[in-house]
Amino acid sequence: MKAWQLKAFGRENLVLNDIPEPTPGPGEVLIRVSSVALNYRDKLLYDGTYNPHLEFPMTQVADAVGEIVSLGPDTSRFKVGDRVVTNYCTRWIDGHPTAKETLYTLGNIIPGALAEYLVLTEHALALAPSYLTNDEAAALPCAGLTAWYSLVEQGRLSSSQTVLLQGTGGVSLFGLQIASALGATTIVTSSSDEKLERAKALGATHTINYKTHPDWEKEALTLTNNQGVDQVLEVVGGPNVARSIKAIRPEGQISIIGIIDGFDATIPLFSLIQKHGILRGISVGPRRALEDMLRKFDEVKLHPVIDSVYSFADARHAFDRLEEGAFGKIVIRVRS
Ligand SMILES: NC(=O)c1ccc[n+]([C@@H]2O[C@H](COP(=O)([O-])OP(=O)(O)OC[C@H]3O[C@@H](n4cnc5c(N)ncnc54)[C@H](OP(=O)(O)O)[C@@H]3O)[C@@H](O)[C@H]2O)c1
Repeated sequence: MKAWQLKAFGRENLVLNDIPEPTPGPGEVLIRVSSVALNYRDKLLYDGTYNPHLEFPMTQVADAVGEIVSLGPDTSRFKVGDRVVTNYCTRWIDGHPTAKETLYTLGNIIPGALAEYLVLTEHALALAPSYLTNDEAAALPCAGLTAWYSLVEQGRLSSSQTVLLQGTGGVSLFGLQIASALGATTIVTSSSDEKLERAKALGATHTINYKTHPDWEKEALTLTNNQGVDQVLEVVGGPNVARSIKAIRPEGQISIIGIIDGFDATIPLFSLIQKHGILRGISVGPRRALEDMLRKFDEVKLHPVIDSVYSFADARHAFDRLEEGAFGKIVIRVRS
């Protein structure tokens, strides 16, 4: 079968290889991959910052939808023909995660989904909602669940809350759609006025251009009558975390998700202490939460925002788009 593999660190080392089709072992299923979606973490992987010990060659990409074509021994959750999506943390089923449960991710410790076929434990899969196309379903798992798990499960999102979303990438736009669906007030930041207009069309209550307002936290305070926001999805990291602490209300929660601007942060401890602020590290979420999210998405018929769709042969250009900063999700159609 054909698979896009990383043969060394560096985007230029993504190559299309012919490799043997995998066979499902006990507890595993064989999936014919339909579509996959990219995440910023795929860039971190080929840049060598996500896992400096990555073994080569490694098939790339974690998020996928596909059809089950055969079952290994001792499987019971699915039947041949079921359409399934992958869960990012393949071993985290429910409850608090152990370090090992958040480690086993596709395209990293185990082979990824940018291939014609994928073998995976049946416990790392959920049924894809029938109202979504393959391209839309592929976009859901990592970014959707990260936003859902942060806002709804850990943040107990309600319609009285105000949520701040940073930028217009995958996680943040899912955050916007989820918060809007649950009736919350939303503030979206972006480097681009044009993207902010598109965020408004998706339901954003307020918008801030973080290029023209680098001290965006002051704008957020003004927009909330100096009360601060209830929740922040902190996807930027680095010095941005200090700004997020200034932007929250007392007892507000910052979900620490991304590291676009740095893996380390110096933070204003006194401000955090005075506000009883909550900083919570997030590692996507367990399969049980993915299934909860999919049920809610089906109920409100939430459609992921797709920035662009590429063919399997043209996968390189999808990764070029990831470097540019997409509005929503980038999809690669593996089987057309
Ligand atoms: N911990 C977890 O479980 C988890 C899960 C998923 C993702 N992540 C992390 O979260 C981050 C975002 O991932 P993603 O896949 O959503 O990325 P993405 O789709 O590639 O989106 C990136 C977006 O970030 C925005 N951005 C860049 N610099 C910014 C800044 N200084 N302030 C505000 N926004 C900025 C840009 O939006 P504009 O173009 O609108 O400015 C850009 O389009 C990454 O670091 C990723 O590794 C972590």
